[in-house]
Amino acid sequence: MKKIAVYPGSFDPITNGHLDLIKRGLRIFDELIVLVAFNPSKASLFTVDERIELIKQSVNGNGRVRVDSFSGLLVDYVKESNANVILRGLRALSDFEYEFQMALINRRLNRDVETVFLMTGYKWFYTSSNIIKEAAGLGGSVKGLVPDIVYQKLQEKYNR
Ligand code: PNS
Repeated sequence: MKKIAVYPGSFDPITNGHLDLIKRGLRIFDELIVLVAFNPSKASLFTVDERIELIKQSVNGNGRVRVDSFSGLLVDYVKESNANVILRGLRALSDFEYEFQMALINRRLNRDVETVFLMTGYKWFYTSSNIIKEAAGLGGSVKGLVPDIVYQKLQEKYNR
């Protein structure tokens, strides 16, 4: 039986840290569903369709990666997609409490779903979509922190 994991996030936009996690997740799972999910506490820069397109172009047609979006409960999506694992990346300490809370509520909502964490690669330990948007928005270079296509789209969004 195929081991399928759902890798959910806002991906606003996808970063090299996310890509690193996808690459490493594929060593453990046969298939990954990268899911653009709705985070009610975040305002987004890119539309869901734009985020999906950027992820698709960044994973470069890898046949073991599916990209999708969902605006409901994550555990419902996991169940519907015949997966039973949620994959999340863990960066510095600040992520821990939030991730712990999410893993526990998801487990409470569906006991068949497990959350698996991978430590983010050390190069990406302090990067996040938010900090990248802030830097890019203020004219800082984020080259090397995001895929080239995302770099270009950020330049366009901020009219450069
Ligand atoms: O990249 P993010 O913003 O940290 O990802 C958070 C996300 C989108 C995975 C989380 O907000 C989420 O799971 N949203 C879907 C709704 C849901 O199921 N929330 C958790 C249980 S209340």
